[in-house]
Amino acid sequence: MSFQLTEEQKMVRLMARDFAKKELEPFAAQRDREEIFPMDVVKKMGELGLLGMMVPFEYGGAGAGAVSYCLALQEIAYGCASTAVTMSVANLSTEPLLQFGDEEQKRKYLVKLAEGELLGCFALTEPEAGSDPGSLSMRAEDKGDHYLVNGMKTFITHGQYADVVNLIARTGLEKGGKGLSAFIVERDTPGFSVGAREEKMGLRASNTVELHFNDCRVPKENLVGKEGAGFKVAMVALDSGRIGIASQALGITRACLDESVKYARERKQFGKAIGSFEAIQWMLADMATGIEAANWLVLSAAWRKDEGMPFTKEASMAKLFASELANSSAYLAVQIHGGYGYLKDFKVERLFRDARATSIYEGTSEIQRLVIARNLLKG
Ligand code: CAA
Repeated sequence: MSFQLTEEQKMVRLMARDFAKKELEPFAAQRDREEIFPMDVVKKMGELGLLGMMVPFEYGGAGAGAVSYCLALQEIAYGCASTAVTMSVANLSTEPLLQFGDEEQKRKYLVKLAEGELLGCFALTEPEAGSDPGSLSMRAEDKGDHYLVNGMKTFITHGQYADVVNLIARTGLEKGGKGLSAFIVERDTPGFSVGAREEKMGLRASNTVELHFNDCRVPKENLVGKEGAGFKVAMVALDSGRIGIASQALGITRACLDESVKYARERKQFGKAIGSFEAIQWMLADMATGIEAANWLVLSAAWRKDEGMPFTKEASMAKLFASELANSSAYLAVQIHGGYGYLKDFKVERLFRDARATSIYEGTSEIQRLVIARNLLKG
């Protein structure tokens, strides 16, 4: 067993770290405050191959694999958690086509998504179907040479800026996930429009909107996978998505720890640096130990994906552990900073708000536990 990263993986991590230091960290506070979605930065990430990391070379991707993807995403999240969710969803958006698309769809869309020429989003959630996507009601009626799509999607990450939408809609009358199908929809398709933009607690430099489909004619050839396979397409994409969000959470936690160590060294109370007090030391030790554990959970899930092994359970474990850790660490980081941690001038205030989403989206912690337990019980 080797605990060593390859030279290539180390280089990818270094490249992402460098990018985050120059392009993200210095501007993250302002982008958060003013809710600026940095499309120019996203374009640069596309040029660097950061938006198609798990797509093979032959389809325009970086061919870097899931381990490199997780290492890079962690670095991006360390610099700006909002940009990390953009990167995570862009990479997730390549999975339906990569795993289920036909050759024509791959050539037409996947290559451009992987090269960063197109930005993709993932539209599953509806107002009444969040944790339970099997209950979604958006209809895609078969009209011969096209599907007529009607309905609304909500909580769609960077939906306002996406060129193509990975859409899950109901084609069949069967109950639950069985009647769902996956589509790729271009943003200039008549009947498609972007709705309200959400104002969020955290991740404010990422974009979250509603998408509306009114008699939207989606060509037959844009069905991804077989009719009725939409639930599976979504679940497979989310397995990869979850290792991305786990990496994002890990990046946030590392930032919490570094800010806390710095502050514990500088801040003096009772005539000493607060880092000399056991109460503070224990908090730092808990964060650092959690980071080590989360890191191996994430890498192990990613490694399994790269090896072609099942990784659904491991992805959920990584996402559950890392996102809960990000929340508890952000709490501790604010606590260590005391009153200053509650002020917008201090980075931990933003980290605290950003961390909160990680245990909610791409499956809440409760859903991750359900996935893990079901996998244990099915043997
Ligand atoms: N891979 C492949 N197939 C899978 C699968 C997986 N990971 N998980 C389930 N399936 C298959 C099952 O094998 C089953 O197939 P059969 O019918 O052939 O037996 C079928 O899918 C149905 O599975 P379940 O009975 O387990 O389905 P369920 O309705 O009970 O739901 C669930 C399971 C795990 C709770 C699932 O609904 C789930 O993950 N919910 C959370 C949804 C979610 O994460 N939403 C996030 C929105 S996207 C987002 O947040 C993105 C963003 O912008 C940041």
